[in-house]
Amino acid sequence: MNKLIIANFKSNKNRQEYEHWLDDFEKGVAKVGAHIDIALAPPLPDLMFFSNRLCDKQMHPHTFLAVQDLSPFSAGSYTGAVGTRNLEGFDVKYAILGHSERRTYFHETAHDVANKVREALSASITPIVCVTKDECNPTANALEPRDRKRCIVAFEPIEHIGTGTTDTREDILKTKELVQAAFGPIPYIYGGSVSPSTEENILIDPAIDGFLVGHSSLDPHDFLSLLRQIR
Ligand code: PGA
Repeated sequence: MNKLIIANFKSNKNRQEYEHWLDDFEKGVAKVGAHIDIALAPPLPDLMFFSNRLCDKQMHPHTFLAVQDLSPFSAGSYTGAVGTRNLEGFDVKYAILGHSERRTYFHETAHDVANKVREALSASITPIVCVTKDECNPTANALEPRDRKRCIVAFEPIEHIGTGTTDTREDILKTKELVQAAFGPIPYIYGGSVSPSTEENILIDPAIDGFLVGHSSLDPHDFLSLLRQIR
């Protein structure tokens, strides 16, 4: 598998700022190697804008669209929820599910995450399931066994999200064993203060299949600099 680097923009920018972001990103991304898959996860109101830009312009051939969340329900009367049916036509490849900010601020449970995973898979969207060490087993256990194997799992230690300190390579690799014992031999990525100054031995480790990037995705130059360092 190519290394997968996901830009999780969270709720940070407005349309005009994303327009500038994409202009700058486009200028530098051609130099990023073909061994990298890039996923951009904008806020939902900007999804169409991103989708059009990814189609129209000369982007890196491996640049894909992701959503930051998904409804746990199929189409129906669920005011405010955005489900897979609403995403048809946008070519969404990945869904970030169960992020700690969703679990903390929106009270999402492992059961909710499992429903979201089922919805994503039913629409051929690959779930990127975020877990801490404590959430790993409860989340895997809430999933249908056949769904577990079809996820990408992101280890996201809360104490390293948005704090500027990355977890150690040893802990990231040790947690991979825990995650793969629970989910099976799925792709394993890390998120938590990954930046262009993250230690090289983390960025180039072949046992880490990619990175979920929050803060350092907000400046396109930082994000491109990070992409260029990944092997
Ligand atoms: P961060 O966010 O890179 O700002 O730590 C990571 C995440 O929330 O996935």
